[in-house]
Amino acid sequence: MWVRQCFSYTVGLMRIGILGGTGPAGCALAVRLASVGFDTVVGSRSAGRAAEICGRLRDEWPDRDLPVAGAANPDAASCEVVVVGTPWDAAAATAASVAGHLAGKVVISMANALVKLGREFQPLVLPRGSVAAEVQAAVPRARVVAALHHVPARDLGDLNQPVDSDLLVCSDHAAATETTMEIMAELPGVRALDAGSLSCAAPVEAFTAVLLQLNLRYKTRVAIRFTGLDPEGG
Ligand SMILES: NC(=O)c1ccc[n+]([C@@H]2O[C@H](COP(=O)([O-])OP(=O)(O)OC[C@H]3O[C@@H](n4cnc5c(N)ncnc54)[C@H](OP(=O)(O)O)[C@@H]3O)[C@@H](O)[C@H]2O)c1
Repeated sequence: MWVRQCFSYTVGLMRIGILGGTGPAGCALAVRLASVGFDTVVGSRSAGRAAEICGRLRDEWPDRDLPVAGAANPDAASCEVVVVGTPWDAAAATAASVAGHLAGKVVISMANALVKLGREFQPLVLPRGSVAAEVQAAVPRARVVAALHHVPARDLGDLNQPVDSDLLVCSDHAAATETTMEIMAELPGVRALDAGSLSCAAPVEAFTAVLLQLNLRYKTRVAIRFTGLDPEGG
């Protein structure tokens, strides 16, 4: 309860930056985080592009006062919490490019290393097992967390609906897991779950291929819900 109260106090003050936040996933996350009061910085290799996209996001939601701003990636990396929102094969290099800003910070990796071959999504096996582990190796002084892999951007970005998903969080840094879970628990409909160390990021990322396959097969957008847990999570 004490932690919860302290955290609630910081929500309005916390700035969250998204590297490569100009794609569908980054934009959806930015508006959702902003909708619950986080100051959100959408990062890009082009500050102008990020500013333009943030203008469009605010225009899409004229009835909401969304605190989203566009900036160059290094400015997004200067936020208290940083999400890497690039494609998987750019995640480690992008984090490394702003490593000086990331020391000691919670850095959330949401990338899934997948390829689509014909009508099938296949997970790729990376040398370190997961994208998140590659990011952690690229920025060893950061506290990398794997999260957000399974939430479809379209659902995340639709502020008229709750997200309706469990959200798995993995990290080798217990306090970083806790911070990430508290941020995610602010999102309506999300139940954040501690899924263990960063070694579990590999199956979490790979499982996204299964979800995308279900979407294709059943022409829908699935999300995950686990049974046997407290409804509020941990
Ligand atoms: N889409 C989803 O539903 C979803 C759900 C969960 C997780 N994810 C994960 O979230 C990540 C982002 O997904 P997305 O669909 O938004 O990706 P995306 O549109 O392909 O890329 C996001 C942004 O990354 C930047 N970028 C692209 N190539 C880059 C490179 N080589 N180096 C540095 N920056 C680069 C671009 O921003 P600038 O050109 O502005 O720099 C781009 O707008 C992916 O890793 C994906 O696996 C996606």
